[in-house]
Amino acid sequence: MDATRLDGAIALVTGANGDIGSAVCHLLAARGATVIRSDLRPSADGADGFLPLDVTSEASWSETLATIESRHGALDILVNNAGIAPMERLDAMALEDWRRCQQVNVEGMFLGLKLASPLLARSGSRRAGGASVVNLCSGASDRPAAFSAAYCVSKAAARMLTRVAAVEFAALKQPIRVNSVHPGVVESAMMDDILATYSRITGGTPVEDLRAGVASGNPMGRFVEPAEVAEAVAFLASSAARYVHGDAIHVDGGYAAS
Ligand SMILES: NC(=O)c1ccc[n+]([C@@H]2O[C@H](COP(=O)([O-])OP(=O)(O)OC[C@H]3O[C@@H](n4cnc5c(N)ncnc54)[C@H](O)[C@@H]3O)[C@@H](O)[C@H]2O)c1
Repeated sequence: MDATRLDGAIALVTGANGDIGSAVCHLLAARGATVIRSDLRPSADGADGFLPLDVTSEASWSETLATIESRHGALDILVNNAGIAPMERLDAMALEDWRRCQQVNVEGMFLGLKLASPLLARSGSRRAGGASVVNLCSGASDRPAAFSAAYCVSKAAARMLTRVAAVEFAALKQPIRVNSVHPGVVESAMMDDILATYSRITGGTPVEDLRAGVASGNPMGRFVEPAEVAEAVAFLASSAARYVHGDAIHVDGGYAAS
């Protein structure tokens, strides 16, 4: 039996309409999982298996998880992927934007761990290595980036939340592994927005120059593809990672190591 297969597993992916979320849903389904795509609203393509979920709302999590339990009877994989990246100078960032970033990126993950863990724990005996939570963190969990205070702080907190959840579930002997994936600069709409905002804040540096600078500053010389991030998520979600717990995988062409 190929331990990377996910046949029979029920997976919930948050922020599934985005570039990384879509790639993750695609790969988990290709490996055999039943994937529940969730986001604030359905995507334009009206994908099957969609459930609305605002990760900042306790009521929304409860409703979505109750629907999954009644339809599927289990939850084996949770991918906490929803995230936002507001950028601004420290002296110009609105408190409201700072708070929204912590709300989506940190509180959303906390609520997912809090509200999904009972069902994940009950489902954990179904697969070798138990149930699996994969949290989308970032290179920004460890390294600072100008004009990204709210985002960097939120992703550092998300990494610590991952580690705490891992040791706590182990202390409670709950069969749930928790790990994080840290993409570098991904070819994505989010990164297009970040570069455009960086250009504005720095007085009009051409976006193409910024793109070229990011690529040349990376040890492997390019942006990350969403599908490459999805490969790390799918590994951690699978029984092939059955003894990997509390860990972080960087998918960044060596940037974190440099
Ligand atoms: N794009 C990158 O370069 C990059 C790099 C490192 C980490 N990440 C992280 O990867 C994850 C996915 O990024 P992406 O590039 O696919 O971003 P994206 O903007 O394409 O997708 C994010 C998705 O999250 C959803 N979302 C926002 N607020 C939500 C809420 N309250 N509840 C539910 N869904 C909500 C959005 O609707 C969107 O579909 C994020 O956590 C991001 O921080 C991205």
